[in-house]
Amino acid sequence: MCGIVGFTGAQPAAPILLDGLKKLEYRGYDSAGIAVMSEGGITVSKVTGRIANLCEKTNDGKEVPGSAGVGHTRWATHGAPTEENAHPHLSNDGRFAVVHNGIIENYIALREELIRDGYRFESETDTEVIVHLVEMYYSGSVRDALIKTTNRLRGSYALGVICSEEPGKLFAVREASPLILGVGVGENYFASDVTALVPYTRNCIYMDDGEYAELTKDSVKVFDCTGQELSKEVVRVTWDVQAAEKGGYEHFMLKEIMEQPAAIKAATAPRIKNGKVFFEEMDISAEELREIRKIVITACGSAYYAGCSGRYALEKLCRIPVEVELASELRYNNPLIDEHTLLIVISQSGETADTIAAMKECRARGAKALAVVNVVGSTIAKLADWTAYTWAGPEIAVATTKGYTTQLAVLYLLSVYFADKLGYIDDCSKYVSSLRALPRLIQHAIDMNPGAAQLAKKYHGSKSLFFIGRNTDYAVALEGALKMKEISYLHAEAYAAGELKHGTIALIEEHTPVIALCCNPAIMEKTLSNIVEVKARGAEVLALTFRDNQKILSVADDLLFIPKIDALFSAAVEIIPLQILAYYVAKENGCDIDKPKNLAKSVTVE
Ligand code: G6P
Repeated sequence: MCGIVGFTGAQPAAPILLDGLKKLEYRGYDSAGIAVMSEGGITVSKVTGRIANLCEKTNDGKEVPGSAGVGHTRWATHGAPTEENAHPHLSNDGRFAVVHNGIIENYIALREELIRDGYRFESETDTEVIVHLVEMYYSGSVRDALIKTTNRLRGSYALGVICSEEPGKLFAVREASPLILGVGVGENYFASDVTALVPYTRNCIYMDDGEYAELTKDSVKVFDCTGQELSKEVVRVTWDVQAAEKGGYEHFMLKEIMEQPAAIKAATAPRIKNGKVFFEEMDISAEELREIRKIVITACGSAYYAGCSGRYALEKLCRIPVEVELASELRYNNPLIDEHTLLIVISQSGETADTIAAMKECRARGAKALAVVNVVGSTIAKLADWTAYTWAGPEIAVATTKGYTTQLAVLYLLSVYFADKLGYIDDCSKYVSSLRALPRLIQHAIDMNPGAAQLAKKYHGSKSLFFIGRNTDYAVALEGALKMKEISYLHAEAYAAGELKHGTIALIEEHTPVIALCCNPAIMEKTLSNIVEVKARGAEVLALTFRDNQKILSVADDLLFIPKIDALFSAAVEIIPLQILAYYVAKENGCDIDKPKNLAKSVTVE
C-alpha cells in the first residue's frame, strides 16, 4: 500500500526520493509524486501509474531542484488514482507539502469546516485536510502546528511534511502507520518501509505512535505530543541489500520461491539445539502454558492460511484447543477471550491493519499475544508480549511465498517447544529430525517438478480451478487456490474434499480442472474416492502426491510431486509445487506477477 520517503542532505534530493520510491514499488500503488524544497520554494511533480513515469516527467529528478523533500506512492482509497489525488498535497499558500499513509476517518467534517473557513481543495483525498490544517495552525513553529493538527485527526497516519519557511528540514509524525527514520552522515532520511533506507543507511530509529520527528542534514530529533524531546534507540538493520534485488531471476516471486530452503533453515536451525527446540526470545514458563485453556490464531490472507495449517500440529502436540480466526472477523465478533487464552498473531509485514486491531481487542480482554512476524520492529512485533521472528528476509513479491512457509516453520517449532515444556513429548528427536529435514525436502519439492511449466500451458486458459483436499491437505489447498487467484487472475476455489457432494460437485463438468492434494496418508483413501467421483463427471485431475503413490498415479491425468514427509509438517513442502504452478500459469497469462492488479503487499487500512 502507500509508501513514504523523505530525504535531507547536501546532494539533490529528487533522485534519492525516486530511488526510495522504486524500492517501495512492490507494496502496490497506482500513482506517485515528490515535493522538493529549494530557494524558489516547493516544487511538486506527480504522475499516475509507475515511478518510471515520474522519472521521465522530472528527467530523473533533475527538474525538481533542492536538497530536501518528500515522496509518496499512493494506493487509491479516497478518490480515483489521478494526478490531483496523488500526494504530495500543497497548502493553499504553497508553503507546506504533505505526504500521508493511512486514513483520516473524520476528514469529511474537517473538510467542510476548512471550506467554510475559505480553504480551497484540489483533490478528493482525506489527506488534503491535513495540509490545510497545518497552514491554518502555523504561526512560526511547524512542530506546534503539527501537534495542533494531529489533535484534530482521527484515524491512522504516517506523515511527511516540508515547509518552505524552514529550508532543509523534514517533519514526520507517526500514528498507527509505520515510519522509520534513517540516520546517515551529513544526510538523514525517513521511510515507511526499511527496504527504502538500507541502500543508504543501516542505522534506523523506529518511531512509535504519537511521536513527532524533525530531521535536518545533521540531526534527527524525536518528540512526544507535548513537544518534549525523547531519547530513542538507534537500531542497526541487518537485512541484506542484495536480498531485495532480483539477482538474475525474472521475477521476485520466482526468486523468493527458490529462496525457501535457505529461509526455512534460517527460521529453524538456530532454534534447534541438542535434539530439542528452544525459543530464547520467549520467556514463557511451563506454568503459564498450563494456564492456557485455548489458543486463538488470528491473521489475514496467507498468514491466516498458515494458521489453518499450523493449527493441526499445535492441537495434536500441545493438546490445547486451537481456533483460527480471520482478523477482520475476530475484531467484530465480541470474542470469548480471556487471560486463559494465548493469542497467536501471524503477519509477514507486522503492519496489517485488521490484524493489529484484532490483536488490540484480544489483549484488552486479557489474552497474552505471541506474534509470528517477519519485519523486525513492526507494529505487531512491538505490541506483542512475545515475538518469534520468521527470519525470511525481505519479501518483495506481493504474493507471499517464503513469508508463508517460514510462518509454518515457526508454528511447527512452537508446537514442539510448547508440547515439550508441557511434558507431552517423551522424545523430541523424531519431531526435531523432521524439522531439520524441511529445507532439504523443500529443495526436493522444487527439483521434483520440472513439468510444472508445461502443465501451466494446459491449465492457464481454464475458467475455474478447483483445489480439493482433506484435513492438512485442505489447509494447503486454501493457500494454493489463493496463490493461483492472486497472480494469474483465474477463478480458483479450495474445497474440503468431503464437502464436494454437498454442492460443489454440481459445478464439475467435462474438462473442469480439479487439483487434488493427496499428501496425508491417514485420509488418502477418502480423497481418492473424491477424485474418482469428479473423474466420473469428466474432470481433469491434477494430483499432488508422493512419487510411489500408485493408486493416485493410476487415476490422475497429471501429477505434481512432493517427497515423503510427516503429515503434521507437510504443508511447508506441499505448497511448493502449487506456488510454482501458479507462477507459470500467471506467466502464461502475461500477468504482472510481482505486482498483481489491485493488491498490496501490506494492507495498512481496513
Ligand atoms: C496482503 C498480502 C498477502 C498477505 C496478507 C497479510 O493481502 O498480499 O500476501 O498474506 O496481506 O499480510 P501480513 O503482512 O499480515 O502477513
